[in-house]
Amino acid sequence: MELYWYLIPHDGAYPWAKRGRREVNFDYLAQLARAVDHLGYTGALLATGGGAHDAWGLGSALIPLTRRMKFIVAVHPGITAPLMLAQQAATFDQFSQGRLIINIVTGDRQQMPPYGIELAHDERYGLTDEYWAAFKQLMSGETVSFEGQHVRFRNARLELPPVQRPHPTLFFAGSSEPALNVAAKHADTYLTWGEPPPLAAEKIAQVRTRAAKLGRNVKFGIRLNLIVRETKEEAWAAAQWLYSHMDKDAIAFTRARNEQSESVGQHRMNAVVYERPHRHARDLEIYPDLWAGFGLIRGGPGTAIVGDPETVAARIEEYRSVGFDTFIVSGQPLLEEAYRVADLLLPLLPIEQQQHKESNVIAGPFVAAARG
Ligand SMILES: Cc1cc2nc3c(=O)[nH]c(=O)nc-3n(C[C@H](O)[C@H](O)[C@H](O)COP(=O)(O)O)c2cc1C
Repeated sequence: MELYWYLIPHDGAYPWAKRGRREVNFDYLAQLARAVDHLGYTGALLATGGGAHDAWGLGSALIPLTRRMKFIVAVHPGITAPLMLAQQAATFDQFSQGRLIINIVTGDRQQMPPYGIELAHDERYGLTDEYWAAFKQLMSGETVSFEGQHVRFRNARLELPPVQRPHPTLFFAGSSEPALNVAAKHADTYLTWGEPPPLAAEKIAQVRTRAAKLGRNVKFGIRLNLIVRETKEEAWAAAQWLYSHMDKDAIAFTRARNEQSESVGQHRMNAVVYERPHRHARDLEIYPDLWAGFGLIRGGPGTAIVGDPETVAARIEEYRSVGFDTFIVSGQPLLEEAYRVADLLLPLLPIEQQQHKESNVIAGPFVAAARG
């Protein structure tokens, strides 16, 4: 399996509130990336939105500080000319020795107009479809002229080969009908937020069936928060602590925003998060060990697996058994939790990259060896 961590501009013990937030600047992100690289995660997601740094700029700056980690760089189709994107992708892929993954983010009604894209929901997927078709053709190195409804250009040729062939890996998310069709056609890995396993499995089946009709095989990834502690009691106490730092106004504001969203994926999350009343964190355990509390104060990935390392590993195994092999996880604060998850959980997971990890862990009993 592949296990990715998260690199975003909002961090802290409870970053939805000013008091719980810490400063996130380049020094901090560099520290986080080095932790991800050192600890044996497959890589990290570099998202857009919410004041995030430009994902290409951030990823490029982190390449020389890291050796193994892959960068999942979010790209909104249609903003950059396909040839320009192909050049950026090939450059990044060369400089990082094949460590680029692109996350195709079609975006929503609020996000895209400031970038000059005024399309309605389904039309945006028309643009996405053409854009990635063009990107893939360009990656072949041939001279391409493209005459689509949304994407048009003449005599474009990428003269800079990427390391990954035929092109850098493409991740993709989106839960609406048109999104599922585009996923089947273009995605190497289809992503979803952390719905309970039976619901997430339905999405896998839908994408798989559509991809099979096109003779394609798609892999599946899921985005989950984690609250891992040595005991279940400690883990649920940590969830309760987070819950106690969510104020009512923030919850009401987030709910109004999430309910207005036109994203089908967000509405699927809303159905999970707003399913039941709650007075304690554990009232939001919507499936064994799956807590919907984060959905109260943020859009997108609203669920967390909560428990001791064995419990969390078992729930991850359940997701693996329904077809997921890519996990994008996080905990708060990102830096400390990257270490905690690495210490407690990673040894229990069959992560593909881990065998490359150089190790200087002292094997025998601990002794204060250094003299003087
Ligand atoms: C794992 C994952 C990561 C995502 N990352 C981003 C992101 O970085 N920026 C963003 O604007 N949307 C992000 N999204 C949102 C979706 O890509 C998509 O725009 C949204 O779900 C709307 O699609 P839909 O209406 O078809 O569901 C992400 C979604 C998932 C599941």
